Amino acid sequence: MGRVFTATLPVDDHAAEHGWNQWLDDDEQARAGRFVVLADRQAFRAAHALRRAMVTAVLGCAPADVRFTVDQPGGKPRLVGEGGLDVSLSHCRGAVACVVGEGCRVGIDVERSDRPFPPEVLAMITAPAELPWAAERAVPLWTLKEALTKAVGWGLAIDFTSLSLAPDPWRADSLPPQFAGAAWRLRQWSPYPGIQAALAVGKAVTDESILAP
Ligand SMILES: CC(C)(COP(=O)(O)OP(=O)(O)OC[C@H]1O[C@@H](n2cnc3c(N)ncnc32)[C@H](O)[C@@H]1OP(=O)(O)O)[C@@H](O)C(=O)NCCC(=O)NCCS
Repeated sequence: MGRVFTATLPVDDHAAEHGWNQWLDDDEQARAGRFVVLADRQAFRAAHALRRAMVTAVLGCAPADVRFTVDQPGGKPRLVGEGGLDVSLSHCRGAVACVVGEGCRVGIDVERSDRPFPPEVLAMITAPAELPWAAERAVPLWTLKEALTKAVGWGLAIDFTSLSLAPDPWRADSLPPQFAGAAWRLRQWSPYPGIQAALAVGKAVTDESILAP
């Protein structure tokens, strides 16, 4: 498997802006300015600054040379001119995360640990086999499913009940067709008090690896 670089940052909305703006392009600065709540604005800036800093470090290029595009509205941001690198970011109030993967598909998610999951919402994200434990592990389950669906670029457009995960250690028991052709690795952790994070990495399964002992 190619290299996978993951980073998280705590974001204190009362702190100075840590020079994040200098890492953002004009579009990102304009988008940041549209957030009404300071904590959301800070998290957006931090996440996008972290993404550009990580890609710059991996490619050894100038920050201004790192550009992203989307193939369709709502699609996964793709690095222009660098087909071999996949990137994913996530921001919530209090923390951000970013992952850069070489030769694999990557998705990352951060959420606040106190995010409520009322029964009707839980029912919309839980596969039948997850029902016995889903309520106790709602936030980890949600972050892992977000990370997985962000890795394949579908996000919330995928029915989360069609992804069936199992804990201890986290693994995918059953995934819908969008995930076919790759072996998926999952990681779930708490980078800071009150914050949960999840990472999904999918490496294409080649004929050679299927035949390998
Ligand atoms: C992607 C998505 C799950 C993000 O959820 P969220 O928890 O609100 O936000 P997060 O902070 O974790 O992630 C947001 C980041 O995910 C990335 N993202 C957006 N759409 C994405 C997608 N389809 N796939 C992967 N990543 C995506 C962006 O970098 C975004 O950051 P930005 O909004 O600051 O530019 C949700 O917005 C979504 O499902 N969007 C698109 C669904 C869609 O319309 N799909 C149909 C087209 S394929």
